[in-house]
Amino acid sequence: MSVHKEVKKVTTHTLQEMKLAGRKITMLTGYDFSLARIIDEAGIDVILVGDSASNVMAGHETTLPITLEQMIYHGASVVRAVERALIVVDLPFGSYQGNSKEALNSAIRIMKETGAHAVKLEGGGEVVESIQRILSAGIPVMGHLGLTPQSIYKFGTYAVRAKEAKEANRLMEDAKALQQAGCFALVLEKIPSTLAAQVAASLHIPIIGIGAGNGVDGQVLVVHDMLGINNEFNPRFVRKYRNLHQEMLNAFQEYITDVRSGDFPNSKEQY
Ligand code: KIV
Repeated sequence: MSVHKEVKKVTTHTLQEMKLAGRKITMLTGYDFSLARIIDEAGIDVILVGDSASNVMAGHETTLPITLEQMIYHGASVVRAVERALIVVDLPFGSYQGNSKEALNSAIRIMKETGAHAVKLEGGGEVVESIQRILSAGIPVMGHLGLTPQSIYKFGTYAVRAKEAKEANRLMEDAKALQQAGCFALVLEKIPSTLAAQVAASLHIPIIGIGAGNGVDGQVLVVHDMLGINNEFNPRFVRKYRNLHQEMLNAFQEYITDVRSGDFPNSKEQY
């Protein structure tokens, strides 16, 4: 008799069913084996291997410098850890904007070299052709509208997007175009909660918000933010579930003290 426990994996269809049933979708970013393992064990629905790895893993100021190779490294590390969650990998800046063939090639590399289940890319009408080409290869695509960090130099600021009617209307049109193109879900980042709720009510695909209020179908946060690892990043939309910055600082300082005093290792911690 096999003792292997069957795990019911989350798929893009599961997310669709969750929206229909009114069950909220949970998503967190993940970039490495060890954290992804714990996030999956906790029962998260989706792990996003976000290009925010550029910020939180590599220390860059923006998401622009991270490369396709680096995203593949992070994606493959997460895939090795996860049993249940759906794994989505961001197409990094410069890997899909050139043309739809480039977008398809980048998406194929991610799928082949990481084993992930889907890709995410930023943008509206201007990326529809690329989305259709990626989908034609059987690769599920998640869209991303609102504050799209890969365009930070166009926006000039990380402030809330689509506060004015013109940009809000454009966002609604883009959301419909992405659904029409075949995206299985959309991320809406840092837009007014009323607009996000309108998009979620108008579309049949799941809408996952970050800084977009509670009227959407699910939430995503950057895992380092919700764990409170970086004590210098405190936007309103982040709920810090722990203060790991302080916890880790304490642990490192205790270790230093113990080594310096000769307390570590003790007689039970040696061979
Ligand atoms: O890269 C990322 O972490 C993201 C989330 C903010 C949605 O795209």
